Amino acid sequence: MRTQVAIVGAGPAGLLLAHLLRLRGIESVVLERQSRDHIERRIRAGVLEQGTVDLLDEVGLADRLHRERLVHSGLELLFDGTGHRIPLTDLTGRELTIYAQHELVKDLVAAHLAAGGPLLFEAPASAIDPATATVRFQHDGRTRELTADLVAGCDGFHGVGRTAVPADAVTAYDHEYPFSWLGILAEAPPSSDELIYSCHDRGFALHSMRTPRITRLYLQVAPDERLDDWPDERIWTELRARLARDDGFELADGPILDKGITALRSHVVEPMRYDKLFLAGDSAHIVPATGAKGLNLAVADVCVLASAIDEWYRTGRSDGLDGYSDTCLRRVWRVQHFSWWMTTMLHLLPDGDPFARRVQLAQLRYLVSSTAAATSFAENYVGLPLPKGA
Ligand code: APR
Ligand code: PHB
Repeated sequence: MRTQVAIVGAGPAGLLLAHLLRLRGIESVVLERQSRDHIERRIRAGVLEQGTVDLLDEVGLADRLHRERLVHSGLELLFDGTGHRIPLTDLTGRELTIYAQHELVKDLVAAHLAAGGPLLFEAPASAIDPATATVRFQHDGRTRELTADLVAGCDGFHGVGRTAVPADAVTAYDHEYPFSWLGILAEAPPSSDELIYSCHDRGFALHSMRTPRITRLYLQVAPDERLDDWPDERIWTELRARLARDDGFELADGPILDKGITALRSHVVEPMRYDKLFLAGDSAHIVPATGAKGLNLAVADVCVLASAIDEWYRTGRSDGLDGYSDTCLRRVWRVQHFSWWMTTMLHLLPDGDPFARRVQLAQLRYLVSSTAAATSFAENYVGLPLPKGA
């Protein structure tokens, strides 16, 4: 098979890149390891920055999003039993969108197939040659090759993109957090109109939502925690304890539809480009979920990549391609800092260091009492504008 851009991975990064390229008349083939059903059901996060929504609007991918999303203009930080609202929109003029990642993936797949975009499901790539822009993959029981001018490795943290770059050509930056998140999806009406981030002596908790009938909640647990040790009632008891407050707030519970434990890590590989291979999204960087940045960062990467590829095909100039990694990494490290800072501010540190606890609370009290601090938090949380020319 031959195409202009070979895209490995049909997550938000790969699918949006294919769409942005198609709008510029550039062909691509998307190879996805899993089935369509699997990627459209995979429960992930669901917070979209305004920049992400504006882009989806611009490229005609936001119709259902606008019909079904929840729009937030603030969030709450809960500590010492009291909730403190951060008025995100008042401070930044920008709003948040709650729309599940797998619903966005459904929209992207539907748009891609409706436009006749080549997308092979159950086609795991086994090797990428960055020098020749060739991808070897399995499909229908046969090993095949896709040759292109460029390859986009949008295959996440566990894909082949990241490992196709020789180890001596990249530097990996890693930070593991000494805790994980137990996340649930519950058939219960949200107990608050906005997200609640709780910094509690029993550990972190997050009240989020998907729809007026579906709530999404998270609990800080130990990194080696086992799901079997968390029967539904224990989860609700712990959530009630960590979201308890002094204003009569009641946490609505209900049947738990899905639950899972995810590790929290910060990870970046530099550079994000090697020869004809360009890494975008989780294949190049992972952020802890606390700042809800993973999806939005993947969108920012492919914005830069699509315009760089377009420039190359239209003008032959490779400035954008040559600057791709540096351009993206500036935003990646800003977001890494913000996500690390938010995570360390809100989670109980296992060593129970009393000094660290006092410093966390001092940071939180400053954040909710200083407009300057709240504005800095808000502008990072709602997302910095997407790179120009995207
Ligand atoms: N061959 C083909 N496809 C692959 C391979 C492979 N060898 N390995 C992985 N994939 C697919 C996965 O099945 C997945 O559908 O690549 C896709 C990667 O998608 P994501 O993991 O969603 O990554 P990305 O598109 O970068 O989006 C980042 O996803 O995980 C969340 O929190 C993360 O929100 C962030 C967003
Ligand atoms: C979610 O709704 O899944 C969510 C919200 C905020 C986060 C992380 C996840 O920080």
